Amino acid sequence: MDFSGALVRWYKYNKRDLPWRRTTNPYYIWLSEVILQQTRVSQGLPYYIDFLDTFPKVEDLAYADEDKVLKMWQGLGYYSRARNLHYTAKEVVVNYSGEFPKDYDKILKLKGVGLYTAAAIVSFAFNMPYAVVDGNVIRLLSRFFGIDIPFDTLIGKKRFNELAYELLIKQKPALYNQAIMEFGALQCTPKSPNCFICPLQDSCHAYSLGMVGLLPIKLKKTKVSNRFLHFLVISCKGYIYLGKREKGIWRGLYDFPFLEFKERINQQKVLKSLDWNNFFGESQVNIISISEEFLHVLSHQKIYARFWHLEINEISLEDYQLVLEKDLLSFPVSRLIEKYFESIQ
Ligand code: ADE
Repeated sequence: MDFSGALVRWYKYNKRDLPWRRTTNPYYIWLSEVILQQTRVSQGLPYYIDFLDTFPKVEDLAYADEDKVLKMWQGLGYYSRARNLHYTAKEVVVNYSGEFPKDYDKILKLKGVGLYTAAAIVSFAFNMPYAVVDGNVIRLLSRFFGIDIPFDTLIGKKRFNELAYELLIKQKPALYNQAIMEFGALQCTPKSPNCFICPLQDSCHAYSLGMVGLLPIKLKKTKVSNRFLHFLVISCKGYIYLGKREKGIWRGLYDFPFLEFKERINQQKVLKSLDWNNFFGESQVNIISISEEFLHVLSHQKIYARFWHLEINEISLEDYQLVLEKDLLSFPVSRLIEKYFESIQ
């Protein structure tokens, strides 16, 4: 049997029963695909269910408060996805009367929708012949066909996109796309795939050459920077200072003021630092506690954070609002801040 036929046959017996596979509603499919970018199915599934419970129609999402959307996204990470989701819901309502356009190019123009997501939406919702190319697909193709061109180069992208389209079963794009992704996710896994039970083993280039662990090839190493943050949890007469971030990966989320240093420094050095002095000036600060160091690993940053719980009588902080301590948990926060809240409860 050919490659594509074998995948579809395997899928028939091995697929997971997932709710977005039982629908052709483009809103549901779009939502599931945005959630599943960079998120495992087991983690994303409850979010998908909650989102559709709360926002059954794209209009509900469009008219929601951004704080509410971000709060529901809390814990999933990559918050630009949630901001784009909200933006695009409004766009669909305003520009397309709440109906997703049945046009690949128009879908591709929506904010937060790239080549992969556009292909997923039009194939799953409208059965249009566009091939999905995500990490799962690239891994499988590079191993099976023995492609050692780095996938994160122009020529690599072109090669994988063309091959994916060639292999697509044009009469059954939805079924085929689900099958190839599922095969990549469950059978041709990144680490230690169980090749002994693989139905494609006989014709797999990487398997025959003992190169399964070496493919696919990535050229550019992700640069990870270390950041050392000291969050200032400032209590003032029963209130805490909380601010809404205006830029960066945590835009739209709330957190505490913080001092950032180039390296790990001890408590005394923080207290003697220029930053501390600039922040508090002559104000009398009472240190209630200093947390352990939290490690928060993101794709491009390793954040080492401490939380200083401080008490102060009088301080005026621009850009921060005073929030009742008991209301803190109602604000959307990053996973790092959430971990801190969990640690003090
Ligand atoms: N990951 C991304 N899209 C997916 C889908 N439709 N089903 C399962 N896993 C996925």
